[in-house]
Parts: sequence; structure tokens; C-alpha cells
Amino acid sequence: MPDTPDDRSDLSAATPAQGMHRGLTSYGDREFSLFLRKAFIKGAGFTDAALDRPVIGIADTGSDYNACHGNMPQLVEAVKRGVMLAGGLAMRFPTISVHESFAAPTSMFLRNLMSMDTEEMIRAQPMDAVVLIGGCDKTVPAQLMGAASAGIPAIQLITGSMLTGSHRGERVGACTDCRRYWGKFRAGEIDTAQKDEVNDQLVASVGTCSVMGTASTMACIAEALGMTLPGGASPPAVTADRLRIAEQTGAQAVQMAKARLGIAQVLTPDAFENAMRVLLAIGGSTNGIVHLAAIAGRVGLEIDLAALDRMGRETPVLLDLKPSGQHYMEDFHHAGGMATLLRELRPLLRLEAMTVTGRTLGEEIERAGPGFKQEVVRSIAAPLYPQGGIAVLRGNLAPGGALIKQSAADARLMEHVGRAVVFDNLEDLARRIDRDDLDVSADDVLVLKNIGPKGAPGMPEAGYLPIPRKLARAGVKDMVRLSDGRMSGTAFGTIVLHVTPESAIGGPLAQVRNGDRIRLSVSRREITLLVSDTELAQRMQDNPVTEPVADRGYRKLFLQTVTQADRGVDFDFLQAAQMTGTVPRAK
Ligand code: FES
Repeated sequence: MPDTPDDRSDLSAATPAQGMHRGLTSYGDREFSLFLRKAFIKGAGFTDAALDRPVIGIADTGSDYNACHGNMPQLVEAVKRGVMLAGGLAMRFPTISVHESFAAPTSMFLRNLMSMDTEEMIRAQPMDAVVLIGGCDKTVPAQLMGAASAGIPAIQLITGSMLTGSHRGERVGACTDCRRYWGKFRAGEIDTAQKDEVNDQLVASVGTCSVMGTASTMACIAEALGMTLPGGASPPAVTADRLRIAEQTGAQAVQMAKARLGIAQVLTPDAFENAMRVLLAIGGSTNGIVHLAAIAGRVGLEIDLAALDRMGRETPVLLDLKPSGQHYMEDFHHAGGMATLLRELRPLLRLEAMTVTGRTLGEEIERAGPGFKQEVVRSIAAPLYPQGGIAVLRGNLAPGGALIKQSAADARLMEHVGRAVVFDNLEDLARRIDRDDLDVSADDVLVLKNIGPKGAPGMPEAGYLPIPRKLARAGVKDMVRLSDGRMSGTAFGTIVLHVTPESAIGGPLAQVRNGDRIRLSVSRREITLLVSDTELAQRMQDNPVTEPVADRGYRKLFLQTVTQADRGVDFDFLQAAQMTGTVPRAK
């Protein structure tokens, strides 16, 4: 992407500005602006020799509230070392940080704010390239969205996954096992003492969730997009491998600045196609699709959900990680990480896609050399699951589409007709789900409304509705569940998500009533409310929906401008001014 006119502030005006000359503060006198800038930075002890180097910004998202980024100081230090060794000047700067369990009402509500923070701080401060350090679910997409819009050379560094723990001899890790143990507690299978005991072991170190949740999904997607160094997705947070990647990332950022390898050269349709292919092959989180739609929207590309579903039918799940399989991220790293997966997926990839190294993905797979015997990445001939992990559903309940993570669903329920048991919102769910007089059976379909982008707001991960306590106690482990919300990538079950349009803006989901029958057919990619078109139209006329509003502040901006799930739940004014294509294209 070319430098903007503002960046052409080199005093000679002959070439685009670089380093400390970039984006000078507006005082009406460029030479004075540079003079003043240098005076202030010299107050921190910098010399002219240092200030003449290419400037590499380092987006630091450390926060005491975010243990997933708990290794941030060490990572920043290693990136700085790499930048300095390669002849650059490293400049750390903070942006907001968002952790899944420390953001109310939901981290997704703040993803776009973090992307705006990232974009504007990259724009506002002089830097020739930027290292984005993120890891927890929303942080990597937010950084990629912001950097895509800012347009300068950018490289992603992942914080890395946490280590697994051990509970009474059983290996455990967040957050699939958090949900599993919580389910056991609800069902009365473990007592309070054991619940508290396992709580100490689920997160055994700093770093991101250790299964194929959204954070791991986004790490793999970032590497598949070509936005990290090869091998950047899998090293756990507390390992020497992670720090070495950090140092190399800093050095590479300097090379990118010198070569002016802009983010637009990396985030191409081919790159998004590779990312979607990988998302399907790793049994990745459904959230990955929302985030990819948002990142793609920043560079003028729309996700074609029908084409994505076709891609899913020809892409097997190869990665044997929880929640679809049995291993954890550190096992994936020991198995060779993304190089092992990409080598296996090679016939299905766009090998000519450019990466942050200046080499293509195909060249990087070549450089990674031959594989070795391991048990975490399956071969295409013997996959974990024959189709991609995610299927796109349509029907009168979801004219704009809905998703199901079929690789983590109960095969028995994937062709199912059941009676709707409806909850109007999260409060209604909390009030009634565990009541003994709730009229519900294991064959019913649990329906939750008003948890979409505007409904909650922020599309919280509440789509993983709990099994009603009385059924859980009777041994029921899974039911068909349906909502306009999201679910954590660490969760499992027969769960239909992202129903679009959402109920809060008048989508058909708003009109579902207790006792209606709903048909789910994953083989036919169908989610249907079994009432006539006339009846549905009549209900819509009789029960018009009032969209939520807010009086002021970020919530007002959010409710006025947030898009639906199929467009990434981004703010409409942050997307590219013009959409120029769709991804994935037919191979
Ligand atoms: Fe941060 Fe799971 S809570 S990655």
C-alpha cells in the first residue's frame, strides 16, 4: 500500500518520509516539527545515530488483566534485540489489551475499539514497520484489522499457548477441560472440593488457551495468511522457541521496512484462501470466520459463505487437537507446528501467496524441509474428520447463513427435528435453564435469542447453552442448541451459531416460539423453522422488533455501526470504502 500524502513529509519532499521524519505533528512548519520531535526523544537519551535508523514500532498489549499476554515483557525485549541487531530502532508503544474473562459484557464488544486504537496509533506515530504482539482471542484479529487499514509493513508475533496442567493424573488445559469439568460439577459428578482443585491446574502458565480455541485458531490463521514468520504459530509462551521467534520477528520487521513490503502485498485473496483452508483443516474455531471476514473487509474483500462451505466439503480436518481431537498446542509444536500441517495441505493451498519474509508460502514450505513421524497432524489419506470442521447452514431461520462446527458435534444429532424451547435473552436463560419445572427433554432444540452483534450487544460467546441441569443429571451430554451468538472455540456440542440476521434487528429467529419444530440437517446444510411462510410473515407483522439503542459513548457508536456476523461484526465505517472481490475463489 503506498504511503499516504501525510507520510510524504520528508524535508526534501523528494522521497517518502522514513523513520522519525514520518507523520510529523502539525505545527505548520515541518522543520520545526522535526526539531521539536527530536528534542523530546533525546530527552530519553537517544542519539542522532539511533534516530537515523528505520523505526520499528512494537505494539505492546501487556496488561495485568491479561495472563494470556503474561510473557509480554520478555517478548518485547526479544523483539527489540532483533530490531537492534538488524540495524533498526525499536519503539515500544502500548495499546489496549482485551482478555476473554476480563471484559464485560464480552471481549467482542471491544475488538473493534482495539483495532481502532491499533490503526490510529500506527498512523499517528512515526514507524516504518510495526510488530504486532497479540495472542488472546480478540487481540490478533484486532491488530490485523487495524494494521490492514493503516497500511504500513506489519508482522504479527503471537504470545504463544500456555502449558498444560495435571489434575489427579489427568492432563488438563484451558478451556475445553474447564467446560468439561464444569459440566461434571453441574451434573453432580464432582464435588466443590474437586472443582476448586482442578481450578488450580487448568491454566498451568501464562499464555493462550492450550487447545484449538479461537486464540490458537487465530495464531494458525495469522501464519497461514503469511503474517507471521514461518513457525510463528505454535511455540508455547514460556519456551525458548517463542523468544527466538520474537527476536527473529524484530529483525524481519527491519527487513520489511527496508524492502517496503507492505501489508497489502501479504493480505491478498490468495492469503485469505489459505487462511480459510487452514481454518477448516485444523478444526478451528467458528470465531475465526467472523474475524477473517472483518480482516478481509478492511482490504475490500467479502467472504463468500457458499464458496467457503464448498471448500469445507473438500478439506479434511487433519489436526488432532481438542476440542475436535485429543492433543494440545504444545504437542502440535513438538510435531513440527504449521510446517507439518502446511506440508500435508500443500495440494490444496495457493502456494504463490506472499509472506512477511518476502518469500511465497510455497517457498517457505520447501525451506521447512521434510517432515518426520508424529501423531498430531494426520495425513490427507487418514484424516481426523473427512470434511472441514465448519459447515455453513441456510434456511428460513438464517437467510444470511449460520454455522455449525460439525467436527465437535454429536454425529447422532446432525440430522434432527426437535421441539423449540425458547429463551428470550441471557437473563431469561439464567433464570429458567436450571429449574426443575422447565418443560424440556433431550430431543428438544434449545433456542436463545438476542445474543447477536446488537442484541447483547457484542455477540457474546453464550451460544454454548448449558444442558438444563435436570437433563445433565440424567446423563445428557449434548443437545441441539441454536442462537445468533458465538461460542468459544474450546467448546463442543451440536451448536448452531451466528444465525444471521440476528433476532435483535428482526431476523426470523425473533419469531420462534416454544413448541415450534426446528429441523437441522447438516448433510443438506439446512436450518429450518417448520412453520409456513405465511405464518412466519404474519408473526413478523404482529411482533415487530425494536432495535436496541444507547444514549452515548462507545456503546452508541457500536449499536449504530456494527455489521452482522457475515461481515465480520466490524463497524461499517472501518471497512474498506469499496469491496473489490470475494474469497475464497473457486480453485
Ligand atoms: Fe486468552 Fe483463551 S482466554 S486465549
